[in-house]
Amino acid sequence: MTTFVLFGGTGDLAKRKIIPALYSAFVNGRLDANFSFIGVAREALDDADFRQRVLASVSASIEGSSANGGGSTPATLQAFLALTSYCKIDAREAADFEPLKQRIDTSGANAALFYLATGPDLFIPVVQQLAAHELVGDNARVVLEKPLGRDAQSAREINAALRTYLKEKQIYRIDHYLGKEMVQNLLVLRFANSFLEPLWNRKWIQDVQISISEQVGVESRGDFYDHTGALRDMVQNHLLQLLSIVAMEPPVNANPDAIRDEKVKVLRGLHKFTPEEVSKHTVRGQYRAGAIDGKPVISYQAEPGVPAASRTETFVAIRAEIDNWRWAGVPFFLRTGKRMASRSAEITINFKPIPYSIFGTNQRNLRSNRLVISLQPEESVELFLKTKEPGEGIRLSDVALNLDFAEASTSRRVESYERLLLDAMHGDLTLFVRDDELGAAWDWIDPILSAWQGDSEGLKSYISGSWGPAAASYLLAQCGSAWGEEYVED
Ligand code: BG6
Repeated sequence: MTTFVLFGGTGDLAKRKIIPALYSAFVNGRLDANFSFIGVAREALDDADFRQRVLASVSASIEGSSANGGGSTPATLQAFLALTSYCKIDAREAADFEPLKQRIDTSGANAALFYLATGPDLFIPVVQQLAAHELVGDNARVVLEKPLGRDAQSAREINAALRTYLKEKQIYRIDHYLGKEMVQNLLVLRFANSFLEPLWNRKWIQDVQISISEQVGVESRGDFYDHTGALRDMVQNHLLQLLSIVAMEPPVNANPDAIRDEKVKVLRGLHKFTPEEVSKHTVRGQYRAGAIDGKPVISYQAEPGVPAASRTETFVAIRAEIDNWRWAGVPFFLRTGKRMASRSAEITINFKPIPYSIFGTNQRNLRSNRLVISLQPEESVELFLKTKEPGEGIRLSDVALNLDFAEASTSRRVESYERLLLDAMHGDLTLFVRDDELGAAWDWIDPILSAWQGDSEGLKSYISGSWGPAAASYLLAQCGSAWGEEYVED
């Protein structure tokens, strides 16, 4: 039996992601029989007020998607609300934790999961108080939302402080990209098929591209985002996590630490940039006004909460390299941006071209094979091969062997937050980030951050609804490559 305690229970993330995920797990019978849910925040609410908010968030998510709707009835909603209660806590007030302690002690729960969907400044005060109230015994787990630090040093300070009260195996650093179906599938694709491994190295791979583009702007998070920027918000965590799974060596087994041991080696192997390399290998941009799907949108600097002269980046493209035997010399192009032409998250493996074409040397004949793994909006794996166009003579074309998971499987789609919450409740750390991974990721990010600080000229602008600054295409063109959307059939 688990008591799930959500700090930041009235916040945006709770409303949009965590509460709907919990409800979906409940409706699908994935929670313990005696599960209970306590929302915690500073607002003076009572249980009934909080239940109203939970109801609103669940209803909005059911309206907005088909994923959670299946199986929900007025009765399941009522049953879920009956398990829900609220505790008003100011994290810096020790006395506020007393009622929470009493509630947990009298619940008869043998395990508590504390989810800290709060700003990072509250992580330590909350954990300190939980420890002072003897709430973080061996069966307790703490889930932490990003951002975990602003740089390598602050991340290490947070980790060290957490470890005063918790063992590493009790700490669940969430990166919701790890909960996406295709990320797990990537592990299976790589390590349960024999034909890929011999090709998965510098001998056969020309470059790797990992791109997460969004159409949304900063929405209601202008103030937070302006202090964060795309490098900290997306690259330090989501993109580097994807990179580490694409590039890691085969782990000895599928246990959490075996996998995380291999991921951390990749992160440590990332070539750290000198200031000159930062200006050569990175592009950063900020969106101007433009249009998304034909609808006009404002510039980043006009967004609420963003200073009019902000120099914060909303787009990043980086040419990374991994200094090890498998990958030396293979560019890993990372890209992410807000207000881009379309929403997608994709990993592209571009294989080397054939050494010589017996069919002639026009562009189309020489273009190499590629494997495209799409995480969203659709989940698919496409292997682009050359085939002959039917008809007279020999004319080559690129054809995709396409595995579309929506078509291939009718199993229920599990949202990443639901998967990760259940993993945390079951004590499975595989899809959570270990302290050394976090440290290694920040160690690579730090030199980029410092070089950017001293270079206010380096920020480019791009029109909302475009694919980002032209310099991002040039970054690839220098290596004879192009982003996925630039592949046009001739
Ligand atoms: C979050 C970032 O971690 O990921 C947001 O803070 C971003 O800025 C979001 O919009 C993207 O997640 P997804 O799953 O919608 O691609």
